[in-house]
Amino acid sequence: MKYSKYSTIIIGSGIAGLYAALKIEQQAKLPDGILLITKSKLGESNSRYAQGGMVGVLKENKNDSTSSHISDTIKAGAGLSEFNTVKFISENSDKVIKDLLKFGVEFDRDENGELTFTLEAAHSVNRVLHSGGDATGKMIEKALCQKVSENHNIDIYEQTVAVELLVNAKDECKGVLVFNDLTKEYETLYSPVVILATGGIGQLYKYTTNPSGATGDGLALAYNAGAVMQDMEFVQFHPTALAIDGEENRFLISEAVRGEGAKLVDADGVEFMQKYDDRLELAPRDIVTRANFNEMMINHTDNVYLNATCINTQKLQERFPNIYHKCFENGIDMAHDFIPVAPAAHYFMGGVKTNIEGQSSIKGLYAIGEVSSTGLHGGNRLASNSLLECVVCAYEVADFLKNQPLNAPKQIDEDIKSIIDRYTEDIESDEYDVKYLREKLQDIMWTYVGILRDEKSLITGLEKIDELSAIFPRTSKCLSKAEYEFRNMLTVARLVANCALRRKESRGAHYRIDFPNTEEHTTHSCLNKKEGDLCFVK
Ligand code: FAD
Ligand code: SIN
Repeated sequence: MKYSKYSTIIIGSGIAGLYAALKIEQQAKLPDGILLITKSKLGESNSRYAQGGMVGVLKENKNDSTSSHISDTIKAGAGLSEFNTVKFISENSDKVIKDLLKFGVEFDRDENGELTFTLEAAHSVNRVLHSGGDATGKMIEKALCQKVSENHNIDIYEQTVAVELLVNAKDECKGVLVFNDLTKEYETLYSPVVILATGGIGQLYKYTTNPSGATGDGLALAYNAGAVMQDMEFVQFHPTALAIDGEENRFLISEAVRGEGAKLVDADGVEFMQKYDDRLELAPRDIVTRANFNEMMINHTDNVYLNATCINTQKLQERFPNIYHKCFENGIDMAHDFIPVAPAAHYFMGGVKTNIEGQSSIKGLYAIGEVSSTGLHGGNRLASNSLLECVVCAYEVADFLKNQPLNAPKQIDEDIKSIIDRYTEDIESDEYDVKYLREKLQDIMWTYVGILRDEKSLITGLEKIDELSAIFPRTSKCLSKAEYEFRNMLTVARLVANCALRRKESRGAHYRIDFPNTEEHTTHSCLNKKEGDLCFVK
């Protein structure tokens, strides 16, 4: 098997991974270089699809303050956000956003050249920076991808899937094993620093706003390596994905459209949010999602509608050019027609438990961005806080590493050789219909581990996940990227369902029909893999 060594390896080329690569290259001493790996093309990620924007608590926004942002984040987080993490991220947003501007990232400005801030649900003031109207993620990615591609000190592997972390018996991560999906070759990559920036899990669900690569790979890798995972039951469903028949990967209709005044209505055009929350359309996302879902159930419909006709055509076209275009392509003129919308899996609040510098419970293994769980989002993420967390944590991991010795390990540990050996052996070449199995799993998660859960549904979900595992028994080496993704999806699905079963209360995005109240003294759920099975830890 091919072998290479690096001072730092970053897995994932969304905004967290790209920005971390640039900052580490800028500051750290890298005797053995830096490598950025992505399983698709550079920049293909959830980040690319971000619409609404990025929170920026900027000094020049006189209406805003970190105390107000901290308070909004904590309220939305349903009692599970960590105060110190929230404070740190809020207080560092000004510094990090100014740094992004230096890397060529542009945010929308008014006619005087001043940055413009929009409003999104559960924010008490306009504080969300946006770019290209409703193409924030794409614009940031474009700028960062260009800088990474021009930087000759950053090696890039595309179409390369990280398949297993190389962790020794002392719980030290020494590198990662990767699989090239084009050549079907494996490579051992050795490094004292492995940073997971692998994003979320939306593809575990039948309906999602996430692109096809959001299969929870980094979570499965970290769990299998023994890392402590946190709050795995907290899946955020976005209330307003475009509900077009036959489309399961759903285009997002940004919350910013509601921020500009659009209303949720039923098929007769009757507004209903007043039945659910005083904050109406701008209540926290979990509340709006359940309201939409409830309306769909009582009216036996597949969607509700978003009425944006109160916003004038020119504003819609300028502020939301991509949403306007996508609706138009589907025969909906959002200036005159209602937009059919329904909830879809959107974001994962759980993840690899880390501190603000991305350090996990395993030495040498870091996680940043959506794959991590820093305690910022608690039980329900406040809109546009994710991109902010990605960049603050990428900045901090780089700041931490600048003082660390980053020489690649000289030799391979014996206990790691046994991991590598598993991937050099031939395995039975049974062909699995992974597309079919993946769809089955997505159905199971949507039906039994979805927006509303109870003990019966979760136990059924777990039994059905076990049935799929029996059909697809691969837990280590696989034959293709699609198989690796499905292997990882099964692992993460089981963790989500088990944690949801264990949390006997409703909190934020985790809603138990059989336990509708929020308990006073509950906290994070943490687990790791012990003796081959999941084990809840304090
Ligand atoms: P991602 O951007 O998802 O990147 C993950 C990377 O890891 C990809 O490059 C992927 O190919 C790679 N990868 C994964 N597994 C492997 C593997 N095994 N081997 C190699 N590479 C791997 N958040 C906001 O704050 N504001 C918004 O306006 C907003 N809008 C959104 C709109 C949509 C439609 C979606 C889907 C999300 C939105 N979010 C928004 C959430 C936000 O975009 C994501 O949480 C954030 O971009 C995650 O960034 P990331 O760098 O952690 O991961
Ligand atoms: C949106 O634009 O509605 C998504 C914002 C987010 O997920 O933070």
